[in-house]
Amino acid sequence: MEKICLIGCESRGVIAPEIYGHFAEHIGGVYYDGLWVGEDSPVENIRGFRKFIVEKFRAIHPPVLRWPGGCFAETYNWRDGIGPRECRPKTVNWWYNYDHRVESNAVGAHEFMDFCEQVGARPYVAANITAQTPMDMRSFMEYLNMPENTTTLAAERAENGHPAPFDVPYFGIGNENWGGGGNMTPEQYAREYVKYATICGSVNVNGAKYIACGADSWNVDWTERFMREFAHRCPIWGLAFHYYCGRAGDPVSFTREEWDTLIAKASQMETLIERHNAAMLAHDPDKRIKIVVDEWGCWHPDGSGPSGGYNLFEQQSTMRDAVITALTLNIFNNHCDRIAMANVAQLCNNLHCLFLAGGEHAIVTPTYHVYDLYKGHQGGEQIEVAVTDKSLSVSASEKDGVITVTAANTNYDKAIDVEISAFARELGTTAEITVLAADPHAHNTFENPDAVVPGAAQTCSVGGGVLAVTVPASGIVRIEIR
Ligand code: AHR
Repeated sequence: MEKICLIGCESRGVIAPEIYGHFAEHIGGVYYDGLWVGEDSPVENIRGFRKFIVEKFRAIHPPVLRWPGGCFAETYNWRDGIGPRECRPKTVNWWYNYDHRVESNAVGAHEFMDFCEQVGARPYVAANITAQTPMDMRSFMEYLNMPENTTTLAAERAENGHPAPFDVPYFGIGNENWGGGGNMTPEQYAREYVKYATICGSVNVNGAKYIACGADSWNVDWTERFMREFAHRCPIWGLAFHYYCGRAGDPVSFTREEWDTLIAKASQMETLIERHNAAMLAHDPDKRIKIVVDEWGCWHPDGSGPSGGYNLFEQQSTMRDAVITALTLNIFNNHCDRIAMANVAQLCNNLHCLFLAGGEHAIVTPTYHVYDLYKGHQGGEQIEVAVTDKSLSVSASEKDGVITVTAANTNYDKAIDVEISAFARELGTTAEITVLAADPHAHNTFENPDAVVPGAAQTCSVGGGVLAVTVPASGIVRIEIR
């Protein structure tokens, strides 16, 4: 029998809801025939957005949504996406060479902000600092956030249907500026960052938080050199690295060894956080700059999604992706003293997605269910845990008198029996246990949308301060103790 002990006197603080953030870029089928079907579509929609997705997404309490990219942001002109839809230009977007799809700009700033409002998420706008000037970013911020009846850009926003400011709380200054975002050195990027953040200062009327482009996964040198060059010369809230754990075998018919490989790669998120954290602390011992994980997830070979390869980067999601989601969120919860935001890439018809959609069809993936099971951690006080079996990934938190424990079994075919107890606190008397478990390859399809769904919650009593639970192989369990 394995053990999980909740260390009641140890906490790293509050789990920022934004750790449960999302990313929806203009790429492949994320928007067009994914999230967005248009107001005149026969598909049920709310002001153009698929009703199924709006309702399901809202139900998991998405705290934040990043837009418009990703790489897409690096050539995006925000003016292409405002004004009457029928007058908007058709443009070649960043991804054109990959899929030869033209950007209609039907979804622009107003539509995106409306989607955020519909689902209850706060918008996070990534600005183009590669192909646009500091004045362009400044004008975009002014358009989005200046109060009503102030400037000409605020009046233009009103003419376009939104008199009130959008109050966008997060701006990313660039994206992957070590690569597609200008192939900069960290020193060069730090100087660009300072320039953009400084120039935008006078229109930052709502105290929006700036997020700087961090490293590509293991490139700690970028973090170190950016921090040294930046030297706290202007406002910054977070430094965002990207980590895709990549692929191992086919997205659906992987082998047992490939399961182990990808689980191991995903688990590296912890080491990565520790390494970037150490590099940041050397220049920011007071931890003023937070760590953001702007993009993360599995990146399987193309073509396994329902569009059969038409939608760029669309991939099918199995229980392997769900377990990787669960263990990654556990890592974030357990580093909530440093991680202030994390956005899984991406929301729909793409990498590591929560939704697959096309035509009249729309389904949730197993990854969606993990976000649903974990939502009680948002804003909870993290509780440190001691676990005897390393193949069990665990985190715990307390909010409103409920302790939430989430455990993911990273074993391909071995269930784990575990006893949960608490040290230096009372455990409570009644527990509700919800299990998401299926064959490692199990996944949802348009034909069989409920192949993977959580079981009904089971109520148990906690006897003598100990709760016995079985975490099925390749399964995830949420325990709520009252
Ligand atoms: O998520 C797909 C792409 O991956 C993003 O556009 C880019 O930022 C990253 O390289």
